[in-house]
Amino acid sequence: MTTDEVRVRIEQLRKELEAHNHSYYQLDAPTISDREFDELMRSLSDLESQYPQFDDPLSPSRRVGGQITKDFPTIQHKRPMLSLGNTYSKEELTDFLNRTEKSIGYFPAFVCELKYDGAAISIHYRNGQFERAVTRGDGQQGDEISANVKTIGSVPLRLSGSGFPEEFEVRGEIFMTKDGFLKMNEERQQAGLEPFANPRNSASGSLKMQDSSEVAKRPLDCFLYYVLSEQLSHSSHWENLASAAQWGFKVPTEDMKLRAETADDIMRFIEHWDLKRHDLPFEVDGVVIKVDAYALQEELGATAKSPRWAIAYKFQAEEARTRLNEVRYQVGRTGAITPVAELEPVLLAGTVVKRASLHNADQIAKLGLHIGDQVLVEKGGEIIPKITAVVLEERPLMASAVHFIDRCPDCGTPLIRKEGEAQHYCPNDQGCPAQLKGRIEHFISRKAMDIEHMGPETVDLLVDKGMISRSADLYRLRAEELLALDRTGEKSVENLLSSLQRSREQDFERVLFALGIRYVGETVAKKLARHFKHIDRLAAASLEELTAVDEIGMRIAESVRQFFEDPAQQELVEDLKSAGLQMEVRLAEGSSDKLSGKTFVVSGSFEHFSRSGIKAEIEKHGGRVASSVSSKTDFLLAGSDMGPAKKKKAEANGVAIISEQGFIEMLAL
Ligand code: IVH
Repeated sequence: MTTDEVRVRIEQLRKELEAHNHSYYQLDAPTISDREFDELMRSLSDLESQYPQFDDPLSPSRRVGGQITKDFPTIQHKRPMLSLGNTYSKEELTDFLNRTEKSIGYFPAFVCELKYDGAAISIHYRNGQFERAVTRGDGQQGDEISANVKTIGSVPLRLSGSGFPEEFEVRGEIFMTKDGFLKMNEERQQAGLEPFANPRNSASGSLKMQDSSEVAKRPLDCFLYYVLSEQLSHSSHWENLASAAQWGFKVPTEDMKLRAETADDIMRFIEHWDLKRHDLPFEVDGVVIKVDAYALQEELGATAKSPRWAIAYKFQAEEARTRLNEVRYQVGRTGAITPVAELEPVLLAGTVVKRASLHNADQIAKLGLHIGDQVLVEKGGEIIPKITAVVLEERPLMASAVHFIDRCPDCGTPLIRKEGEAQHYCPNDQGCPAQLKGRIEHFISRKAMDIEHMGPETVDLLVDKGMISRSADLYRLRAEELLALDRTGEKSVENLLSSLQRSREQDFERVLFALGIRYVGETVAKKLARHFKHIDRLAAASLEELTAVDEIGMRIAESVRQFFEDPAQQELVEDLKSAGLQMEVRLAEGSSDKLSGKTFVVSGSFEHFSRSGIKAEIEKHGGRVASSVSSKTDFLLAGSDMGPAKKKKAEANGVAIISEQGFIEMLAL
């Protein structure tokens, strides 16, 4: 390809990828498979790294993030970001509508929209291109978080269609879907991290992360609710929303908005969504009602805090009253104690609630809970119901206060609470049956060793009978012992033993995850396995060596060190080794570790390999492929027609430049 052809190809790929992004995020109708998308993206990134002269900060390849921001610059809003007056009552809403009608002289058209529960954002566009994104802050000035917002797939970086003003601002709400939130929390818990309280907190928390590539992994989405410019071609909010959809913004679907001409229409919209809001894939906390015509908005004006042309009607958080029967305490595999309220079953927001989380001792003290209390249970932003208050007048005579336990409910060991932590822990990690069971249950779980035909009940039974106390004991179980248990037939014993046998073949990364090292979730286990390759090398790695691995921070590194320094864990690892589990990364046919620890950048085209082929070859032999040359690069693998910029950068950084022939010789050695 000539350089000109490359430029055209790059532009074409960018357009194509943005169009697929649009179908996926805005229209919810993907046009190609994830794999095909990834392949197109890879072609684009390859070309971009070979031809840095065609660099573009708005390229779809930039959506994976990577920029680190230490301090977000403060930006003054051109027009203040006001908040909305809000009400929970239909009467007050009617007052608002009457007031508006009176000051205009007739009943104007209103636009009803859902009130999305996330974080407000202001995004500027110039000449059809994303310019910057700023948080609401105090309404006058906010933080510039452009790098983070650019990773959100539903925020267009380059507008499509025509008719957009040369310079304008859109405002909208960034939020996390309920599914995305639950999935992310599940992963966090597996990795030993504190789960987020609700989708709103996790959305606003995500936006303030310093590493935009971390933000890119968060399931964020953005709805647009306001367009601001002096040069809009339409004079009403409703019409401008429709144009914004043409330009590539995500606006609410037909059923999620209404242009209402009467108060009844507005009330019907509210009632509909008050009932149906739980079916939406994201959380809403009310309905926003706005005067549609811009001229009328201007006429009505604003107070210092909020516009007079709009109001938010907020839904009541759904609440129910029921009896607190008991408080139980769960012991996790790390020894953390979680109190759980056992409730008289009650219907709330369409589901029967029997339990509510109480989080920790402080929460119980704050509520002043007594057994037998009538409590109010709420399912608002949070997905897990919570107790918000006690109905004191209804407290039974002689009711006893709930006191947080001071000994482990399972093994009786005095609990500890570390300085500055809210959680109590049972410190008996080697003897507490609940912790032993929890760890073994984690070990056999689907994402870890995936031992079929064995569930939590079997683990409980085996631990209670004293037949196992650690995962390694599973591999010593004999058929006779198992058959001697009640309720186990020959067939089930056979099944269990054969799934244990099969688990010996599970990859090292799964074994590593199954060990249950704190903060080492699935992804971290994969990273560590691929980097260190053998458990002995991981066990011997220093904090420096650990934190040198991509995305491994001090907290994980310290936890790994602590695990491998513990004699009990060393013994466990040795026993699992003897049981025949995989303790190293297995090499595929024809692979080696000849290039282990070496980082390559590949540029240009080759005679004996395709570009992806040569990269695969590097990885097959344990090397790493990076996309751009830096001081961390070991070799620049130069094909024919290599870009001059790469060569310059390699020379400046003292990176060795090798030819295809040189590479082949390197492998032959
Ligand atoms: S309109 C000047 N529409 O609610 C009024 N706001 O207090 C501009 N919000 O922080 C706001 N959904 O982030 C509007 N459909 C919607 C909304 C919405 C959520 C948020 C907004 C703001 C708060 C208003």
